Amino acid sequence: MAVTALVGAQWGDEGKGKIIDILASKADVVVRSQGGNNAGHTVVVDGTTYKLHLIPSGILYDGTICVIGNGIVLDPKSLCSEMENIKANGKSFDGLRIDARAHVVLPYHIALDGLSEAHRGGSDIGTTKKGIGPCYMDKAERSGIRMCDFINPEIFAEKLKANVELKNKIITLIYGGEPLSYEEIYAEYVEYAKLLAPFVTDTSVLVYDAIKAGKNVLFEGAQGALLDIDLGTYPYVTSSHPTAGGFCIGTGIGPTLINECLGVCKSYTTRVGKGPFPTELDDEIGETIRQRGGEFGTTTGRARRTGWLDLVILRFAVRLNGLTSLAVNKLDTLSGLKELKVCVGYRKGNEVLRDFPVDIKELADCEPIYETLPGWDEDITGVRDYNDLPQNTKAYIDFIEKSLGVKVAMVGVGPARDQNLTR
Ligand code: GDP
Ligand code: IMO
Ligand code: MG
Repeated sequence: MAVTALVGAQWGDEGKGKIIDILASKADVVVRSQGGNNAGHTVVVDGTTYKLHLIPSGILYDGTICVIGNGIVLDPKSLCSEMENIKANGKSFDGLRIDARAHVVLPYHIALDGLSEAHRGGSDIGTTKKGIGPCYMDKAERSGIRMCDFINPEIFAEKLKANVELKNKIITLIYGGEPLSYEEIYAEYVEYAKLLAPFVTDTSVLVYDAIKAGKNVLFEGAQGALLDIDLGTYPYVTSSHPTAGGFCIGTGIGPTLINECLGVCKSYTTRVGKGPFPTELDDEIGETIRQRGGEFGTTTGRARRTGWLDLVILRFAVRLNGLTSLAVNKLDTLSGLKELKVCVGYRKGNEVLRDFPVDIKELADCEPIYETLPGWDEDITGVRDYNDLPQNTKAYIDFIEKSLGVKVAMVGVGPARDQNLTR
C-alpha cells in the first residue's frame, strides 16, 4: 500500500468509509485532512454499523493510528460523542491523534450556518448545518480558534469571548436570531477540551515520520470531487478541498510523498443537498434506486437524489485527482434493472462536451448523451470472486474502465467487508 490517498469521485457518499475500513487492515496510519462532521462514513463490521463523522474509518482496528489533520474543522461535542460510541461498542480510540492546528467548530458556527441558509431562502445550498462553512470563514478571516488555543483554558476564554461578542451582533442585528451565552458555551466546551487535550499533537511530524519509516499510510477523503470549493459545482459545494491536493495542505505533507490515488464511486450517481445534477432521475427508476440502495444521508437522514452513472463527472474526478485506480460500489443495487444508461457526454446545441463545464449556468443548456447497456437480474450480493459476476455486470465495469482509461481495482456488491471484490 505504501502511501495511498482515497477520494470521493462524485458528490460524496460513494462508500469511502467501507473501502477505507477494508484497506485499513493493512494501514499503520489513517489520516483525515479536510471537512468535519458534515461527513458520514459508514462501516459495517460483523453486522454492526458504525457511522463515523470525524474519526477516521481505520479506528476499528487495534493499533492503527487515526489522525485528524490540520485541515479539519472539528466539532468537539460531536467528536466526544463519537468517541463514546466507539467505547460503547467495545472498541478503543487510543490510536486517535488530533492536529494542534485544526480549527474548532463552536455553537455560533452552527447557529450561523442555519441562519445564513434560512436567509438565502429558495437559493439555499442545502448544507448539513454543522457549522462547516462558518468555521472555514473564520479560519480564512484569521479569527478562528484552533485546537492549540482550545486546550489552553485562558486563551480559549479570551478568544471565545471576543468571538461570541462579535457573532452575537451578526446573529441578532443582521439575522434577527437569538444571542448565545459566552458563559454557557465556555462551561460546556472547556470540559470537551480536557477530554481531547491528551490526543492533541503536531500530526504533520507524525505523518511525515511514518512515511519516511516506510509505514503504510492511508489518506481518507471526505465529501467528493464535485463538492470541492475551488473545482466543484460552486456555489453548491462544501467549504474545503475534497480533491487530492487537499491532502497536502490539510495534513502538511508534500505531493511527492503520495504514491497512489484511489477514487471511489457508486455504479450510479447520488447527490444530497441542492445544485445541478445532469443525470438525475425524477421518476420510478430513481425511486427504485433510492429504496434499494438505502439512499438516505448518513449525517442528516435526508433522501439522496439519484441518477444514472455520469462519466463526464468521473472523467473530471480522474483529471483533478490524478486517479491511479477506481473502486465502483453498489453494483448490487442495480440488479433487476432491464437497461442501464450511462452518460458519456453532454450535448449543448450542436456541440458535444466531454469535459465538465466550469460554470454551472452552462449546465442548464446541456443534455446528457446516454449509451444504453443491458442490465442483469441476478442477486450478486453473495458473489465473492469477480469472475463469477454475471457477464453483463462485467461488461458494465469494462465499459467504465475503457471510457475513463483508469483501472477498476475493486467492485462492491454489498456494505460488508467481504462484499468487496478485488480484480
Ligand atoms: P461515504 O460517505 O463515502 O463513506 O458513504 P456513506 O457511508 O455515506 O454511504 C454509502 C452507503 O452505502 C453506506 O450505507 C454503506 O454501508 C453502503 N455501501 C457501501 N458499499 C456498498 C455496496 O457495494 N453495496 C451496497 N448495497 N451498499 C454499500
Ligand atoms: P461524505 O464524506 C455528501 C454536501 C451537503 C451540501 C454541501 C455543503 O459522507 O461523503 P456543508 O455542510 O458541507 O457546508 O454542505 O455539501 N455534503 C455532503 N454530501 N456527502 C458528504 O460527506 C457531504 N458533506 C457535505 O449536502 O450539499
Ligand atoms: Mg457519507
